[in-house]
Amino acid sequence: MARKKIAMIGSGMIGGTLAHLAAMKELGDIVLFDIAEGVPQGKALDLAQAGPPEGFDAKLKGANSYEEIAGADVCIVTAGIPRKPGMSRDDLLKTNLNVMKAVGEGIAKHAPDAFVICITNPLDAMVWALREFSGLPHQKVVGMAGVLDSSRFRHFLAEEFDVSVEDVTAFVLGGHGDTMVPVVEYSTVAGIPIPDLIKMGWSTQERIDAIVQRTRSGGGEIVGLLKTGSAFYAPATSAIVMAESYLKDKKRLLPCAAHLTGQYGVDNLYVGVPIVIGANGVEKVVEIELNEGAAANFQTSVDAVKELVAACKGIDGSLN
Ligand code: APR
Repeated sequence: MARKKIAMIGSGMIGGTLAHLAAMKELGDIVLFDIAEGVPQGKALDLAQAGPPEGFDAKLKGANSYEEIAGADVCIVTAGIPRKPGMSRDDLLKTNLNVMKAVGEGIAKHAPDAFVICITNPLDAMVWALREFSGLPHQKVVGMAGVLDSSRFRHFLAEEFDVSVEDVTAFVLGGHGDTMVPVVEYSTVAGIPIPDLIKMGWSTQERIDAIVQRTRSGGGEIVGLLKTGSAFYAPATSAIVMAESYLKDKKRLLPCAAHLTGQYGVDNLYVGVPIVIGANGVEKVVEIELNEGAAANFQTSVDAVKELVAACKGIDGSLN
């Protein structure tokens, strides 16, 4: 059986980390693509030279031409500019929309059968635009946000409860941004929901509220610390989990930005919801019941995504 091929569209901080993780896990051969000349080639060579000591066997190639992604099974898109300190995700809209156009056309031409994972921000609008520009089936194009947001939530909860992150599950819905909706009722420690843990005296509502708020601004916190860039280890790790579920038909249930066609009362929009990822891409959108508060927050989040998509349509008439 031929090896799988994974193309990283964008070979910056996240793209390089993605390639490293994919190689370490031997998910397939890897192409690093970027418009910057030398960068993908240099990273590919450096990563290939990490193979002998670590013992992974993956071919790595750097490219500036879309021809090199031909036949890719998975494309992970990070092309664009990252958020700088003081810049909101939404400020990125205009620049990254143009990038999505070029990337969407490149994928459509050279890797139309790929499962595409978009990471570029503002995520929910960019994944929508990328799908529009590429014309790929909706179930083959998803956005990575929920896995990262729920990982942040899990990390903070594990610290709060002083238990292993392995036993903390967390649910985060909605758009990737300040309006994301961490769902406390569906977040647990080994199956015990957080509201029960509060009753058991493990924490207080105030402390959990503060954690929810910290999760919402989790990306900004890291931008503020790094000063010259945004998070890359956890975003890359989160996207690899999604790629692996597709490549190995694992059917994992993960929160991702997926195209909705009426679920949660939302039509033709990408929003963060639980989905099952298997060999067919998005195999199921899972509709969970939301309490009044979460439903209202989800709606606020959907409205924010709608606004961004409308702004995209305003910038590029071909999206109407
Ligand atoms: N085609 C291909 N690559 C591009 C293009 C393009 N049209 N435009 C920019 N790039 C490349 C840049 O040359 C750079 O190498 O995208 C890469 C982006 O890498 P970084 O600047 O290091 O950004 P990174 O931290 O990887 O984040 C990428 O993910 O989380 C989001 O907000 C983040 O949108 C940002 C993206």
